[in-house]
Amino acid sequence: MSSVVNHPANPQSPTPISGLDDYELLDFGGGRRLERFGSCVVDRPCPAADPFRPTSPRRWRRAVARFERTSGDSGRWTLAGELPEPWIIDMGRFRTALKLSPFGHLGIFAEQVANWAWIAEQIARIERPLKLLNLFAYTGASTLAAAAAGAAEVVHVDAARNTIAWARRNAELSGLSDAPIRWVVEDVRKFVRRELKRSDGYDAVILDPPSYGHGRRGEVWRLSKHLDPLLAACVELTAGRRGFVLLTAHTPEFDAERLRRMLGEALGHEADLGRIDASAMALHTADGRALPSGQVVRWSQM
Ligand SMILES: C[S@@+](CC[C@H](N)C(=O)[O-])C[C@H]1O[C@@H](n2cnc3c(N)ncnc32)[C@H](O)[C@@H]1O
Repeated sequence: MSSVVNHPANPQSPTPISGLDDYELLDFGGGRRLERFGSCVVDRPCPAADPFRPTSPRRWRRAVARFERTSGDSGRWTLAGELPEPWIIDMGRFRTALKLSPFGHLGIFAEQVANWAWIAEQIARIERPLKLLNLFAYTGASTLAAAAAGAAEVVHVDAARNTIAWARRNAELSGLSDAPIRWVVEDVRKFVRRELKRSDGYDAVILDPPSYGHGRRGEVWRLSKHLDPLLAACVELTAGRRGFVLLTAHTPEFDAERLRRMLGEALGHEADLGRIDASAMALHTADGRALPSGQVVRWSQM
């Protein structure tokens, strides 16, 4: 029996990302995905696309940039044309500059779009000034979504200095240079430990931990080992004032149910003060095919 399947249309979210002109998932299959960012089509590896079959082979010829893995996570880009310089796209709530990274990333994870909307909804719904902590904050998409929605303060933490510089540039491009954002280059675990001693806490936490990563001074982050204690620290940091928690992850062994349980256990009896939702994230093509793209768990105060 062939292991190639075509995913049926997902009846719950059959459309591509609505309202976004600058991003589109065009096709996926055979371990790769084809996406449009602004005017440029990009062809990249994507393990989640392994079990599927591309549906429009002709479209793949439009790719202007193609990434091939050479060893581990890193690889090589091949260009079939010019990329805009700067390459700036509008993600609805903010603008972001894209770059070809040696790991095949461009600086944005489009599957997060529904989470940016959810963050904005929470900020509008909670109706008090919110101080937010964004961990593993990368190029700032969630930070900017929160700032644009009127968060009173966003503390943006990432270990990579160049990534923080990129996030700051995205804030400028989004007209949010003067927004109340504190940019912190630090190891997440170290930062959180310090905040437990010295800060007055936070109203909400957003975290998008990778499977494996490094802190500012090479401290090892391993989701399988460190997520439980990090969630416990996040619960402590938000004690008595927690508005919401948003956890996303892309680690295959950690499905939405497992992550929901982990957050529920960290919250303990306080889980009942709000509602907790967990689901698989997906990107959709215009014809409604769904490409699995990680997991999301959301807790919000009732
Ligand atoms: C946002 S996560 C990537 C998540 C993405 N969805 C994925 O699966 O690739 C990556 C970010 O976490 C940061 N990071 C990794 N380990 C870290 C650590 N120990 N402390 C702070 N930031 C860390 C990296 O610098 C990077 O910007």
